[in-house]
Amino acid sequence: MNAPLYAIPGSTPAASAATAPDAAAPAGSPATARTVNEVLAQSQVMAVIEELDRDLVGLAPVKQRIRDIAALLVVDKLRANLGLPTSSGQGGPSLHMCFTGNPGTGKTTVALRMAQILHRLGYSRKGHLVAVTRDDLVGQYIGHTAPKTKEVLKKAMGGVLFIDEAYYLYRPENERDYGQEAIEILLQVMENQRDDLVVILAGYKDRMDTFFQSNPGLSSRIAHHIDFPDYAPAELLQIGERMLHGMNYRFGDGTREVFDRYLARRIAQPHFANARSVRNALDRARLRQASRLFADGDRVLTETDLCTLAPQDLLASRVFQRT
Ligand SMILES: Nc1ncnc2c1ncn2[C@@H]1O[C@H](COP(=O)(O)OP(=O)(O)OP(=O)(O)O)[C@@H](O)[C@H]1O
Ligand SMILES: [Mg+2]
Repeated sequence: MNAPLYAIPGSTPAASAATAPDAAAPAGSPATARTVNEVLAQSQVMAVIEELDRDLVGLAPVKQRIRDIAALLVVDKLRANLGLPTSSGQGGPSLHMCFTGNPGTGKTTVALRMAQILHRLGYSRKGHLVAVTRDDLVGQYIGHTAPKTKEVLKKAMGGVLFIDEAYYLYRPENERDYGQEAIEILLQVMENQRDDLVVILAGYKDRMDTFFQSNPGLSSRIAHHIDFPDYAPAELLQIGERMLHGMNYRFGDGTREVFDRYLARRIAQPHFANARSVRNALDRARLRQASRLFADGDRVLTETDLCTLAPQDLLASRVFQRT
């Protein structure tokens, strides 16, 4: 459809640290938009935002922040089209982000959507997301870290680099930790190639805060801090129903109520991981349903049989056995 390539510096394949930040818009490109709606229409970005709203349960503050960032980018584009200096004065706004929240609160999912939004608005060439953890960046031996980190950065260029549990990069207890080397390379690229790479750091809030205190250089390069709240039980139930629907299953009579009780217990138990725990619970329920059907070898199984989770598929969970 629309090639979302506006004259945002760095949004061309040749972008590099050396690219002049004030390259003029090529004539006849979509970089002529003068209204918000023109930018929206040309970029089709609203489709991604609406999908995000529709597909993801809850997360109201997160969705609002994403809309705010999108608005900033749209205004930035209009400013660029008028030849005004962009917000940061140096090749557009800084878009590095930090997503904090407990496990399973949707950080990876939202990061993927963010990558699409950046792409549609022309702030990223490719729109892809490369998700990594410490082990993908840091080597075991001297001399291994720089090539590893650079290889990952190369893959992520033109898109989003998502670093999960980013604080593991920094191990103060270990004097000669190679993580520091990865951080230094990252810092350089976040600064010098920020028109061609957006970095999103993710992890628990408290650990991330400590990490930033020890690495103020990183913290100062991150413009957007977004906090992902835990889901309320009613949201988890809704998430579960969406997931089931997506897998072509449904709750049978009374199963929804049992799942609600399941969630109330599961939340209180150790290692609860929000939507991820919901998915795991449903996966196990599907296993039990399969065993239940399997045991009835001669019965003709209807579509309803095959697609319905019964209360016992959940009640057999350990969650109900513990008191
Ligand atoms: N708000 C939501 N609505 C529907 N599904 C969701 C929502 N949040 C998360 N999920 C689903 O829950 C699962 C876990 O989400 P995701 O991987 O994005 O969480 P995360 O915060 O990255 O977790 P982790 O910290 O464990 O990596 C995914 O299958 C995702 O699709
Ligand atoms: Mg994740």
